[in-house]
Amino acid sequence: MLRSDDVPMATRTDPAFRADVLAGLSLSQKAIPARWFYDRKGSELFEDITRLPEYYPTRAETAILRTICPELVGAVGDGVAVVEFGSGSSVKTPIVLNCIEPAAYVPIDISGEFLRASAATLSSQFPGLPVLPVEADFMHPVPLPPQVADMPKLGFFPGSTIGNMEPLAAGTLLRAMRDWLGEGAMLLIGIDRVKDEATLVAAYDDAAGVTAAFNLNLLDRINRELSGTVPADAFAHEARWNDDAARIEMHLRATRDVEFTVDGRSFAMREGETIHTENSHKYGDRDARLLLRCGGWTPVQQWCGDGTFCVILAEARPVPIAP
Ligand code: TRP
Repeated sequence: MLRSDDVPMATRTDPAFRADVLAGLSLSQKAIPARWFYDRKGSELFEDITRLPEYYPTRAETAILRTICPELVGAVGDGVAVVEFGSGSSVKTPIVLNCIEPAAYVPIDISGEFLRASAATLSSQFPGLPVLPVEADFMHPVPLPPQVADMPKLGFFPGSTIGNMEPLAAGTLLRAMRDWLGEGAMLLIGIDRVKDEATLVAAYDDAAGVTAAFNLNLLDRINRELSGTVPADAFAHEARWNDDAARIEMHLRATRDVEFTVDGRSFAMREGETIHTENSHKYGDRDARLLLRCGGWTPVQQWCGDGTFCVILAEARPVPIAP
């Protein structure tokens, strides 16, 4: 058993992580890209978040996916390759795979370790199914495995992960997905809804403190992987609703003046100053469909359960000639 302490420093330090952290801490509003939450510990904490009583999106989306199978099969057809962007959930993916009975399953995830673990679990759950994991950041072009080249594709992008992107990046990603999956492909995407502020804030600031631990784990990761001296006990988790941008923001707020170093560089923060660590945009009914259309995806069906969260099926139709 290899303990993380035994891994040589060089292999633990991702140069992109160092660059993002050093650049982000140098901004006047400090900010670190949320992708760096997901080390092994972060990925595990995130799975815990999805089971929290306050965190409604996973339950809402799962409940919807369980009810739509007949309609989904009718719309999607046989022999498809399901390409999942982010291989997280141990729950949602089997619902879709059981329903669609695809010819192949391609999970794409940035956390290689987590990806391999969930791919192995799925392989044993679906013995006949070719599971072809791709370790990549899906914000950059992803080469799909050659085995799926000629299969019709169904992209699966659950969890309202699209909401974690700025609208500009969300549009770029949707267009990139359209390029990778090809014209005629379908996309099954989960998008969270705008709703009352108390419900939204509670979902990102739970009573048990799991989301706080998830947010604060980023500081531990910085200390561990980038020889940081960030005093994690001087930071508090904060979730706030930004109404202008229609999003929940997560921050790490300094509870006193602090000075620390990361990779030998010095930083200082005043009490109350924050590091912005995550956005979760929420979309109204028409907003969500417009976002998809901006990315070249035509919504064909939508299911919103009790109205807190929507699953939308969209198709990469040929670009129409504008009237
Ligand atoms: N996309 C989901 C959401 O915004 C899941 C998620 C991403 C999340 N980062 C998070 C949930 C941080 C809680 C905290 O809700």
